[in-house]
Amino acid sequence: TGNGTGTAVTGAGSAEDQRTAVGEGAQTLTTRQGHPVVDNQNVRTVGSRGPTTLENYHFLEKISHFDRERTPERVVHARGAGAHGTFEAYGTVGDEPIAKYTRAKLFNTKGKETPVFVRFSSVIHGGHSPETLRDPRGFATKFYTEDGNWDLVGNNLKVFFIRDAMKFPDMVHSLKPDPVTNRQDGGRIFDFMSHHPEALQMITFLFSPWGIPANYREMEGSGVNTYKWVNAAGEAQLIKYHWVPQQGVRNLTQPEAEAIQAKDFNHATGDLYDNIKAGNFPKWELCVQMMPDGEHNELPFDPLDDTKIWPEDQFPYLPVGMMTLNKNPENYFAEVEQVAFGTGVLVDGLDFSDDKMLQGRTFSYSDTQRYRVGANYLQLPINAPKKHVATNQRDGQMTYHVDTAPGQNPHVNYEPSRLNGLSESAPAGKEHEPAYEARLVRQKLERHGDIDFQQAGDRYRRHTDREKDDLINNLADNLKGADKSVQDKMVELFTKCDADYGRRVREGIDKAMAEKAGMNGHGHAEVGVRSAGTQKPSM
Ligand code: HEM
Repeated sequence: TGNGTGTAVTGAGSAEDQRTAVGEGAQTLTTRQGHPVVDNQNVRTVGSRGPTTLENYHFLEKISHFDRERTPERVVHARGAGAHGTFEAYGTVGDEPIAKYTRAKLFNTKGKETPVFVRFSSVIHGGHSPETLRDPRGFATKFYTEDGNWDLVGNNLKVFFIRDAMKFPDMVHSLKPDPVTNRQDGGRIFDFMSHHPEALQMITFLFSPWGIPANYREMEGSGVNTYKWVNAAGEAQLIKYHWVPQQGVRNLTQPEAEAIQAKDFNHATGDLYDNIKAGNFPKWELCVQMMPDGEHNELPFDPLDDTKIWPEDQFPYLPVGMMTLNKNPENYFAEVEQVAFGTGVLVDGLDFSDDKMLQGRTFSYSDTQRYRVGANYLQLPINAPKKHVATNQRDGQMTYHVDTAPGQNPHVNYEPSRLNGLSESAPAGKEHEPAYEARLVRQKLERHGDIDFQQAGDRYRRHTDREKDDLINNLADNLKGADKSVQDKMVELFTKCDADYGRRVREGIDKAMAEKAGMNGHGHAEVGVRSAGTQKPSM
């Protein structure tokens, strides 16, 4: 069925499956062994009050399945919401035929439709954490194309904190709750960030209202990392992907988010589900920024540095198609929880760049999914391509079916063979073969020293007054408990971005610390001592 519920993928629907036992109807509750359940209310006991017996198969199956209902959460992006939809290609990129730059079939014909599944998420906290928290938002799209799946695994913000995959686990640890107190702590976050001037642009977005999108529909998306397109001749372009919401963009200040959170901590999931249910289908236009493959030493930033934006006046957004989300999941777990996206999942005509973050990510996603969902995660309907799949991969936990081709000799699960096994495909075009000549090193990706401060400063100056005020309040609030060495270093870095930025953060920290000291001196206001509303225990 493609949605993971109900009908099995193979062998379903034969007359045998419709057999019923004595006393059983079409809606009768059964065990997973097919035994009709006669009593689902009472465990079996010796006498009505007596000890419970252990041979009660139905009870044991029910409770032990329940004991295993949770699979591990995603280590990041655990909280999410998803929907099905369609991507419709324009056949062009800007005003040129798209085939000039990529041979990917999903883009090549005007009006071509490709089914998609999208999962939106927040990043740091657990699976049922509030959707009002300050966090980047994930925007991951699976395109079920005629050439197999393409996953575009992006975020709402256009840049990232770091540009080397080696740093990702440390960065995530600093943002996750403290391993002792189990609380997120601005002092730990900025201790890490103060070593990374390349994070300043992301920080300047994240601590402004851009760090709390109003919901998932009124939010942008971006591939963040740099990819490539490859045409029929094997020539490559560097590409950045962007989703432009047709609903507009809306973000929340911290007080606005707190007002929502007081009443509803699932507001973004609810907004997406209710709008789709009501037929108000959200749409995003997919745009790309493009530059010819190469090092581009003429630019002040490295095009492989995901902490930098490609300025729109130099690299305009070129539309390539429109996505509409028009169907809610039928089962949250089967679809939204078990879906598995990865940056390595590309189709012919799309390629990797040498972006070090992208290459690190590409190992990480399928690695974690083999652990989180299982070795055969790609056989689940939500993850399986909607096309011919034939591999020689066999067995492993939860093997659901054998992906052979019709007529394939079932004895031949290897390749090559002369005995009617699977064989290789003809190439779709000339391979893109970049040439390398360099020493194998461990080195920073850096260019023109102060570019980290320039782009972050530009971002600060472009914020509206409302955004700047909220940014300063939020930074001050997070830095007020930080070590003085961390506060001083962050103020120094913000000052390098823009003197006004640094001055306002310093004043904000001083004010927040004075307020904190004042409150602690007057009746422990921080701890929230209550007098009214205290209840006696009920009897
Ligand atoms: C999820 C690793 C950077 C966007 C994940 C997951 C891992 C991971 C392990 C959990 C996947 C799962 O359980 O299915 C990494 C590493 C990174 C990195 C190692 C850097 C080296 C990024 C960046 C972005 C991003 C730069 C934004 C473009 C996402 C999204 C998800 C995700 C959207 C959730 C996908 C879903 O909804 O299932 N990442 N990540 N990640 N990551 Fe990353």
